[in-house]
Amino acid sequence: MDTWKFYDITHRDHIVCNPTSVAKLDELIGLLDLPAEPRVLDIACGKGELLLRLAERWGRGPGGAAFRGVGVDVSPYHIAELRGAAARRAPDAELELLEMGGADYPATPASFDLTCCVGASWIFDGHAGTLRALRDATRPGGEVLVGEPFWQRQPDPAYLDSAGLRRAGFGSHAGNVAAGVEAGLTPLLALVSNGDEWDRYETLQWRSAARYAATNPDDPDVPELLARIERGRHEYLTWGRETLGWALYLFRTPAAVLSES
Ligand SMILES: C[S@@+](CC[C@H](N)C(=O)[O-])C[C@H]1O[C@@H](n2cnc3c(N)ncnc32)[C@H](O)[C@@H]1O
Repeated sequence: MDTWKFYDITHRDHIVCNPTSVAKLDELIGLLDLPAEPRVLDIACGKGELLLRLAERWGRGPGGAAFRGVGVDVSPYHIAELRGAAARRAPDAELELLEMGGADYPATPASFDLTCCVGASWIFDGHAGTLRALRDATRPGGEVLVGEPFWQRQPDPAYLDSAGLRRAGFGSHAGNVAAGVEAGLTPLLALVSNGDEWDRYETLQWRSAARYAATNPDDPDVPELLARIERGRHEYLTWGRETLGWALYLFRTPAAVLSES
């Protein structure tokens, strides 16, 4: 089954495609320190709820200030959905929405006020690589937002086997923050998702898949879709729910050092 079709179906009812509630996303947006005309990069933007909410909040004001955002995602389904939503919800924002691999986006160094990569750190070979890539694209004194899993406890080897995960693939919550410090960033916020947010994120996928199967019984992908959902449900209920954590991490890049002369 096509990977992006699978994620399109299983995330159809998600507003945010990660285990963060909409309320927490809004709280985070309210705590961002952005200028009047922010320039924002979101790598692996998905259906773009973060970009859309930013564009709605910082959209063109009476003085003509404009939000300028770049959203990059490899899924043709997500980018098409985002383009439609952007035309409806933020027609005045300058949004560049690109269907491409995130690692291939040629970000101009130090050019964005906020750079984001939420839930796709494999694009830059992991959490530390993601922090470095985003840092380099962010202006001095700007902000870097990542969403990253962490181990809440040692993962059962059977869980790793079943889910195709590696112990070294994720760090601890403290390690995720420390990686930012190691990259020269100042930690500003770490918003950890709770069980309710995780349950909503995981179980909405069960519902979307079941509804798709009921309305598209002749789609030859349905058996594989349901088998993958069943395996994911088993992994989540048996191990993942107690083992894997998730947080949004916000950092600031160092401000430009002003010379005294
Ligand atoms: C967990 S979702 C997160 C989406 C979005 N950031 C959010 O939080 O709602 C991961 C996203 O990464 C995208 N993705 C996966 N591999 C990618 C790649 N190599 N380049 C760009 N996007 C990618 C997927 O299409 C998906 O939209």
